[in-house]
Amino acid sequence: MHIAVLPGDGIGPEVTAQAVKALRALAANGPQFEFTQALVGDAAYDAGGDPLPEETARLAERADAVLFGAAGTYDSDLRPAEARGGHALLRLRKRMDLFANYRPVFAFPELLGASTLKREALEGVDLVVLRELTGDIYFGQPRGISVVDGERVGINTMRYTESEVRRVAHAGFRAARLRRRKLCSVDKANVLETSQLWRAVVTEVAADYPDVELTHQYVDAAAMLLVRKPRDFDVIVTGNIFGDILSDAAAMLTGSIGMLPSASLNAEGRGLYEPVHGSAPDIAGKDIANPLASILSAAMMLRLSLGQGGMADRMETAVRHVLAEGLRTADIMEDGATLVGTEAMGDAVARELSRLA
Ligand code: NAI
Ligand code: MG
Repeated sequence: MHIAVLPGDGIGPEVTAQAVKALRALAANGPQFEFTQALVGDAAYDAGGDPLPEETARLAERADAVLFGAAGTYDSDLRPAEARGGHALLRLRKRMDLFANYRPVFAFPELLGASTLKREALEGVDLVVLRELTGDIYFGQPRGISVVDGERVGINTMRYTESEVRRVAHAGFRAARLRRRKLCSVDKANVLETSQLWRAVVTEVAADYPDVELTHQYVDAAAMLLVRKPRDFDVIVTGNIFGDILSDAAAMLTGSIGMLPSASLNAEGRGLYEPVHGSAPDIAGKDIANPLASILSAAMMLRLSLGQGGMADRMETAVRHVLAEGLRTADIMEDGATLVGTEAMGDAVARELSRLA
């Protein structure tokens, strides 16, 4: 299995190195991984004038999966797109047609105190928001700001084709099958025609997955239920804009951004795996970043792109064990716990994986 490793900028290389370490610890007793590392983001721009060199893009397309760190820094954020490290990620997503964006939200029992919400509401929360990533009002035409009858008018167009909805619906049902077999499709079908089409197509696709329980929610009700009864959700599948908002809200059910992994997949099931967080220039180079989001992204890669569900389970179990031991990076530190750095956290997970093998 060939994994393209694109560490990128800031804490990207620090946390990605821990994920690679964990994968190597797993491989000691199983299928071998071949890692090829390449430059992306500011690191690539500084080296050769392009944040996404053709060589890096080809490597990503060719590999069985991509492990991504973070791209961009505050310094480059204000440059034009072609010189902006962060733009590399948008280009890569588009080029690889990564339309299915998964953000799992798992409330680790060891970290329930880290959320602003009540412990009782969070216990047992284990859900995934699957956001369609390449369609919807973010891309529909016409769009723009023009002057009509003497005043400015802003226009965006919500648009989904049947095939766009169908492919993400299939992805949602497949994800549910790997979990608790519950899929909640979120739309606004009481108001929007795009949502009526969305609901009709998702319902048609459901015929292929009789073992998965399908429900529908309006997006406003879903937002409320996510906060009130988050435990009730397994997989949520929704459009680009609804998913953008719901996934950020759902992310706050866990403690730190340093705990949140993500996956962006294409039709072939190949994908890009990265922590939800960015390059965190404020803490880069200090060995204090939390590597668990990157390690948990590697677990998603094993499960969703590499067909290694057992290894993914072991990786997640190792993370649980290390948290249960009381090891904490600074972002999730609490009284009585043991403060560790990025490297030491990665070492602890790798050690646990060797023990679990
Ligand atoms: P950020 O996620 O990098 O940082 C936000 C805050 O969370 C910071 O205080 C940071 O120290 C903290 N943080 C982030 N990850 C952490 C970790 N693993 N452990 C402990 N603390 C952590 O978001 P921000 O500050 O908005 O962006 C920083 C740079 O990253 C920008 O240049 C931005 O464009 C880029 N970025 C890249 C992304 C990507 O590659 N997917 C995503 C988001 C931002
Ligand atoms: Mg967002």
